[in-house]
Order: sequence, then structure tokens, then C-alpha cells
Amino acid sequence: MNTLTRLTEGLPRCLTRLTLLSGVWATALTLACSSPSESGTTQGGAGGSVATTGGSSTQSGGTMAQGGNSTPQGGANVAQGGATNVSTGGSSAGASGSASGGSSAGAAGAQAQGGATIGAGGSTSGGAGGGNTEQYPKPASLPAETGASLWLRYPLVPIQGRLTEYKAAFKQVVKAGTNASVDVAVTELTTGLSGLTGATVAAGTATDAGSVLVGTAQAEPIKSLPLATRLAALGPEGYLVETADVGGKSVTVVAGNTAVGALYGSFALLRHLQTHRPLAGLSLSAAPRIKTRVLNHWDNLDRSVERGYAGRSIWDWSALPGTLSPRYKEYARANASLGINGTVLTNVNANAQVLTASYISKVKALADVFRPYGIKVYLTARFSAPIEIGNLTTADPNDAGVKKWWTDKATEIYGQIPDFGGFLVKANSEGQPGPQQYMRTHADGANMLADAVAPHGGVVMWRAFVYSEGSPVDRIKQAYDEFKPLDGKFKDNVLVQAKNGPLDFQPREPFHPLFGAMPGTPLTLELQITKEYLGEDTHLAYLGPMFEEVLKSDTYAKGAGSTVAKVIDGSLHSHTLSAIAGVSNIGDDANWTGSHMNQANWYAYGRMAWNPDLSAEAVAEDWVRQTFSNDPIVVAPVVQTLMRSHQALVDYMTPLGLVHIMGTDHHYGPAPWVSNLSRAEWNPVYYHKADSQGLGFNRAPSPGSDAVAQYFQQVRERFASRATTPDAFLLFFHHVGWADKLASGRTLWEELVHRYSVGVDEVGVMRDSWAKVKGYVDDKRFTDVADFLQIQHYEARWWRDACLTYFASHSKQAIPAGYAMPAQTLSYYQGLTCPSDAKKPRCMPIYSGQPSPAVLK
Ligand code: GCU
Repeated sequence: MNTLTRLTEGLPRCLTRLTLLSGVWATALTLACSSPSESGTTQGGAGGSVATTGGSSTQSGGTMAQGGNSTPQGGANVAQGGATNVSTGGSSAGASGSASGGSSAGAAGAQAQGGATIGAGGSTSGGAGGGNTEQYPKPASLPAETGASLWLRYPLVPIQGRLTEYKAAFKQVVKAGTNASVDVAVTELTTGLSGLTGATVAAGTATDAGSVLVGTAQAEPIKSLPLATRLAALGPEGYLVETADVGGKSVTVVAGNTAVGALYGSFALLRHLQTHRPLAGLSLSAAPRIKTRVLNHWDNLDRSVERGYAGRSIWDWSALPGTLSPRYKEYARANASLGINGTVLTNVNANAQVLTASYISKVKALADVFRPYGIKVYLTARFSAPIEIGNLTTADPNDAGVKKWWTDKATEIYGQIPDFGGFLVKANSEGQPGPQQYMRTHADGANMLADAVAPHGGVVMWRAFVYSEGSPVDRIKQAYDEFKPLDGKFKDNVLVQAKNGPLDFQPREPFHPLFGAMPGTPLTLELQITKEYLGEDTHLAYLGPMFEEVLKSDTYAKGAGSTVAKVIDGSLHSHTLSAIAGVSNIGDDANWTGSHMNQANWYAYGRMAWNPDLSAEAVAEDWVRQTFSNDPIVVAPVVQTLMRSHQALVDYMTPLGLVHIMGTDHHYGPAPWVSNLSRAEWNPVYYHKADSQGLGFNRAPSPGSDAVAQYFQQVRERFASRATTPDAFLLFFHHVGWADKLASGRTLWEELVHRYSVGVDEVGVMRDSWAKVKGYVDDKRFTDVADFLQIQHYEARWWRDACLTYFASHSKQAIPAGYAMPAQTLSYYQGLTCPSDAKKPRCMPIYSGQPSPAVLK
């Protein structure tokens, strides 16, 4: 049993607050249960205690050799007996939250420590509620679930007091005003409330007691309620949800300044109820901090998905526009429930065909489905489209004919789709065409497109992920070097979109130095939800802590507190436009995301895009309650598993600031030895620079690459010095001697072995935690998750053994006492051809023996 398990075992359902310092879990216990609502909410979450007893060991099912769950931490404790306690009811205290929430973690802290400091951001409830204590009954049987319903399952509330409370409060749904989005809200509310209460909650017309009244501030009877001032402060997408007296009747009002705001409020109310929170003092209100919150689909027109691990694209282009898959509406519902308000339908490695008339009619069909859900469509614009589909001889952005072609194209699109969002462009990167072919700059290219969409209110999102033609001194410096000089040269409707880190969606990277460095340009943060470099569909890695880490990183652009979140929400440099993008992990798999647990990353992206101050932990708790169960016996271990998963993966793949040591192309398994690719910076050896002396890329000032110079002074100085660089980024910024001592007192070599080993054993702990929910989650999803965790455990050991045998060939040191020896030789790992299927990757040959323990003492 590791320290965390020991400390948290038997605790109340209130979650432990986990703080990750220099990659080591430090655990601060808090008895305040997080209630991750957006804003001032009700009080008293469900308190109570988790009754875990007994210690019978389970097997996690599993389909592979050796099965079994045999970590050094001991067998999985399975909750015994039928019930766990939860305190419900609750007083009406609390309600103290604010939408901005935000922990003090951010600032320099999160980034400097290189770990996710899990703060109290956005979590607003009072702690354990008083009042009745109710027990969650152990489910007699749970029907198999495919995962298709995501977090919108609306199962019957299984605790009587809460059920009675909800039944009394919600008898029908009445709309105020006429609007397609309000109609969607009514449908969602009637579906959700009927499911949760087990009664028929239908749409009604007269506002009787027990009504949910949903609509806009301009529509009666909401207009006559004293909400106007508070609503006005919440902007076009904000909402208020509270109990009100309408004509002497007690009703629940869900109001927005716009119909989409009312829809968001409806989802907020349903989330409140799905997480079994009390109704006393109900008061939910929120407004998004970031205006444009989009998914980027890297979906191709042939339905393949670049870096997609969940089946084919959900866009069935050949059947559109005549046939509309029911999934389109489900997709829109799910996104609206999170506040996502835009979708870029096509891959950044773009195909000009999507801009032809026949495809525009297909895009229009999708836009029409999405509109009531507040979702705008965007397309990727291939820069050479005027040549490829317009019969022009050039795509030069300064050419009059090219300008006219794009202007006409924009007019054509907006003629079909009046609320079309605009274009996303990848130019002069990885073979994509762009303005530099015509000796023009990125600004010239972006501005030409911006002019075309400006009359229609559209925007251009121009990506800063660039690969220059020549081999660079330091790959990570390119984006800053190309874009920083262009600051202030972009038109008002252009956003520059940068990935979270300067390299490419690695398990952990420092924040991108462009954030804060372009005060005259609104920047979009691009996060990758699909886990290209993080175990793809199979490995459990909850990305909330990683998102939180980058959002709270302090750029120091305008002194302390200039976080990435403040750069991208427009507040730091007073921009009108603000945007965030998440590269989607969605496909046509039944569970949407290739694994049940990957749904949490879609969910976390959406929730944190709406409110970047939310804590990853609070969001995880909401997701678990909505997706699996509110029973504390499920909530506590699953949230803990999610919260430790990202660091575990970093440890067994790329500890201490290592990056890009994955196999060529598929990016799945370990291949730190690759050195034969034609461009230097495609090779893992370029990034880790292992030699007989040590390991790591020197990015300090000369003789280093001086990439640290791209950061503001406080960050630059911290990363420039080996002594002040946090362990989490050590090898990203420094070449460290094998025998050098680290903060832990271990040498670099010893620390590397330790990290890789801890990472493996952490997956064992995650398996044990998951085993605890057997019988409390339907067998289908339980087994699916358990099977993937088992694969992950073996593959974590594969990663460890392959990397350590390789690095040992440079360090010439043995595995220290107290750690397991690698199972095979370096040449064995180098000879593996895994995965055989890049879309559903696995490495079958390594599933034998026992992956843990890797730390023997
Ligand atoms: C990565 C990824 C590519 C993708 C690129 C991008 O390099 O492997 O598939 O096209 O990022 O973000 O454009």
C-alpha cells in the first residue's frame, strides 16, 4: 500500500486534496467536500462516510495472460455490505462561491513546481451537509451500459430523501418565450427530470407550483421577476437558476439573457441534480470567461481521423446532407452540456474539397442541427484552395484574384450558414501550404482570410504550430521566433492559436513562451484531448491536472499573476476576442472516445474552457458522479484514480522533463533509441541527448540553445538555472550528469530508475482502486475499464524496462538495489514491432509475468 492509499483509506467521501510537488504526491487532507459547480451554488454537498471494510482481494477480470491484480500494494479491498453512508439534506449554508474561484496555486507555483497544484478553484459548496443521513443502497443489478450516454444518463435517484425532495420540486417544465434553444432546453429538462425522479415530468403551459420555468429575460413571466440586473451582468451566455415566486407559486426559474444562456442554465440545474445536491437555497449562476470554446476535429473527409483512437469520424460525409445521423444531435447535446460553443469539423491538415459547393451544403446540414445547441461550425482552410478548387495559378495572399476568390468563397459559405464561425489554418507546417511560399508572412496570409470573413462577423484562427523548412538549432524555439515579430500585425478578427507547450502535446511540457509575449494579438490555447502521446485510447490519463497546470502557469508578462488563463481569456491585454481549442478525441465508437475514461477528458476540457479557474479535482468529481455513481464508495476511489493518473503516466513514460521518446509515427510505445530519421528533430535522440556524461537538452544560455530567453525574466531565470529548475522540467532545460544529485538526494540515474518504477506501481494502485467499485458500476463498463488498466499496467512496465535498459547503455550503471530488474534486454525491446495496429495499439508480446512490483522496498 502506498502512502496515499494509506492516508485516504476509510476517509469520508470528501475527497483528499492532492498536491503534486516535484512529481511527488504530497497529500493534504481536507474535509471540505468539493462541490464543483460553476458558481455560487447551494450548500452542503453530500457528506458522510465511506464504509469500506473487509479486504477480500479481487481480480480485475482481464483478458490477457497472467490476469490478476497483484501489485505490491496488496489486494484490492472490496467494499463489503450493501450500503454506504452519505449525509444528505443539508443546511443552506455555503453558497459562497464565485465564478472565478481560483486557487492560489497558479502564479508561479504550478509551473515552477512542475506539478499540478490542485487548488480549490471554482469549487463553491459548503462542506458536508447536515440533516438526514441516507445510505446508498448497493445496486441489486445494473444493466450493461455501452457508455453512449456519456454523463447525461439521468438515472433514478436511489436515496429516498433526495428523491422525495426532487419529486416535490419538479413536476413539469414550462417555457418562457419561443425559441429553438428553449425548446431543446425543455426536452432536456423533461428527459432529465423524468429519469432522475422516475415520474413523468412533462412540458406544461401554466406556471403551477413545482414548475421549472425556463427561458429568456425578455419573456414573461421571467421578465417580471427581479432578475434583470443580475442577469445583465452575466452577458449573452450566462444564466441564473433559482427558486422564485411566480403568481404565488414556488417555481424553479432557469433564465438567460439569450435562449442559449437558458439552455446552459438547464444543463447546470441537471448537473446539480445528477450530483444529488440539495435544493435548499438553490442559486446557480455563471458566465463563461472565454468567449469561443471550440473542439478541433482532426477528421478527414474519408472518415479517417488523424490521431483518432475512437473509430471513424462521426461526420458521415457521403450520407450528408440527406441523412442526419442521430449522433449529431447527441454530440451537440453533450457539448452544450459543457458550454462548448463551436466545432471545427475538419483536420488542420486540410482538404480543399470541403470548401466546394457540395460540401458546403453538407456543412450547412450539420450547422442546422447544432444551432439550437449554441454551437457554431468552423472549417479548416487549405491555403492552396484557390489553386486546387478555384483554378487559379497562385495562392499568393497579395494577389487580387486570390483575395477575390476567398471573399467570394466566404460570401458563398455565409449565404448557406449565416452564423458560420470562420476558418482555422495550419500553414507552412509539416508540408501544409502557406504564405511563406510566396515570400509573405503568416500575418499576410491570416489577414487576407480575415478580410474575407470580416463582413460576416467571422474570425480566423491561425495556428502557431510551425515546422520551418530547415533543421533548427532548437525545434522548440520556432513558433516564438516566427510569430513574436508579427505581434500587432494581425487584423482584429485574427487569433493566433498556440499549443499548450512549445513542442507538441507531450505528456508534460512547460507552457508555451508565446503566451504573454504577443500583447497585441489575442491568443488561443490549443489543448489536445485525444491522447496522441499519452497512451491513446487505452491508458488512463485524466488530463484535468495538465490543463490546470498550464492555465495556472504564470507568464509574468505583466508581473506576477499573469497566468496563461488571463492571457487567453483576454483580460491581461484587454482583448475583445478570446478562445480556447481542444483537439477532439471523439469517434464513432459506441462510447465516443475509445475508452470510458477518455470521456473525462472531453468533459474536463469543456468545463475548464467555460471556467479556467475550476479545479481538475472538482471537475473529476462531477464527472464521476454523473458518469458512474454518486455513491461515495465509487466517487472517492475513482476520483483518486483519475487524479493520480496523469503523473503516473508521466513517470513511466517521460519523467523528469523527458519528451518525445515515443515510437516513430504512432507515438505509442517507447523508442528512445531512434536516431535514423531524416530530419534531426524527428528523432528521440535529438530530444534526450543521452551520452556517457548525462541526459537532457541544454536550453540554458550558451553553450545551451538559450530557449529560456523566450520567457519573461522570472521564468527565464528559474529555468536557466539548474538549481531552480523544478525536477518536472529538469531534462527539458538541462543536460544533467548521471551522478549529479537531485533534490531527493538520489543521483540522476537513481532518480530516473525510481520515477520509472513508481510510475509502474502507481498503475497497480489505480487497478486496486478500480477493483473497489465492482458491483457498484455495471459489469460491462467495469470490465472494460479493468481490462484497459491491466493493459496499461503491463505497458507501463514495458515503457520502464525499455527506457531503463536504453539509458543504462549510456549511463553504464546497474539498476540500484531495491528496484526490479528489467524483464528483457535492450535488443529485445528494440526488436519489438508494436503496435501492429496504430489505431488500436497494443503490444501483445510484453503481457507476461507481473508488471509490479517495480519498487521492491
Ligand atoms: C502533431 C501530430 C500531427 C498533427 C500536428 C499538428 O505533429 O502528430 O498528426 O498534424 O501535430 O498539430 O498539426
